[in-house]
Amino acid sequence: MATEKDNERSADERSLITTEVTAEATNRSDSRTNSVITTTDLDVYYGDERALDGVDIGIPENRVTAIIGPSGCGKSTFLRCINRMNDQIDSCRVDGTLGFHGKNVYDDDVDPVALRRKIGMVFQKPNPFPKSIYDNVAYGLRVQGLEDDVDLDEEVERALRGAALWDEVNDQLDSSGLDLSGGQQQRLCIARAIAPDPEVILMDEPTSALDPVAASKIEDLIDDLAEEYTVVIVTHNMQQAARISDRTAVFLTGGNLVEYDETATIFENPEHDRVEDYITGKFG
Ligand SMILES: Nc1ncnc2c1ncn2[C@@H]1O[C@H](COP(=O)(O)OP(=O)(O)OP(=O)(O)O)[C@@H](O)[C@H]1O
Ligand SMILES: [Mg+2]
Repeated sequence: MATEKDNERSADERSLITTEVTAEATNRSDSRTNSVITTTDLDVYYGDERALDGVDIGIPENRVTAIIGPSGCGKSTFLRCINRMNDQIDSCRVDGTLGFHGKNVYDDDVDPVALRRKIGMVFQKPNPFPKSIYDNVAYGLRVQGLEDDVDLDEEVERALRGAALWDEVNDQLDSSGLDLSGGQQQRLCIARAIAPDPEVILMDEPTSALDPVAASKIEDLIDDLAEEYTVVIVTHNMQQAARISDRTAVFLTGGNLVEYDETATIFENPEHDRVEDYITGKFG
């Protein structure tokens, strides 16, 4: 039976594309219950160099999925594929399919800007704009052309609360986002990412530039975010992946997804020796 959330999602999915979603796409979405993102034989090339090789994965809704693996194995490439940030790299070519609710985001009728409203991103280095705290958060709504449809003050507050930053900044919304501490700046970037009310948040090593206390706050926040959003996080920190994720995908050199399972299984009883060697620090 279709729930209210399913109906909302269908509406969101429709807004993603400029033509109607076909019955076939809708059925595909239903048959992959719970997977909000699914890839089939996904290859990514930069020029002639292959960065991802035949990746098949289904990322569950409202869970935290960690992507781990040694430097250069394609983690950032994979993350950027999901909301088509790789479009901005001229030499980059994607083969295979990447479904968001069963709709291939690389189809010609998908609008990447609308896609990024649904799939937001947070980067390794906090990158607030040289604007006020308020305008940093409102930016996410303005860029999507939503500012006239919503109560901006309310939405800015909602996003800052959602990013666990409101209590620290509510009396200085006009101050520059750049005057915040590194950890606060990263939470501001999370507020900016959640302001347009996405479904998925992609995070590329979001705590690696932060001190342990600030990193721990972001980890707590990720746990809260997963109640409402699907979170995909790249991390080099094994303990972090083990602590915060429900599922873990291990990529190894050559852009291969070698193992993907419940996080406890990956860390306690991985199937592949190479995965065990990687997570126990024997290489990487
Ligand atoms: N813009 C680019 N142009 C050309 N090659 C690229 C580009 N970005 C990444 N690559 C190549 O693709 C491969 C995967 O890179 P990617 O950045 O996805 O790895 P990663 O797993 O995120 O590494 P790290 O842990 O160091 O961040 C590497 O060989 C890299 O050199
Ligand atoms: Mg990377």
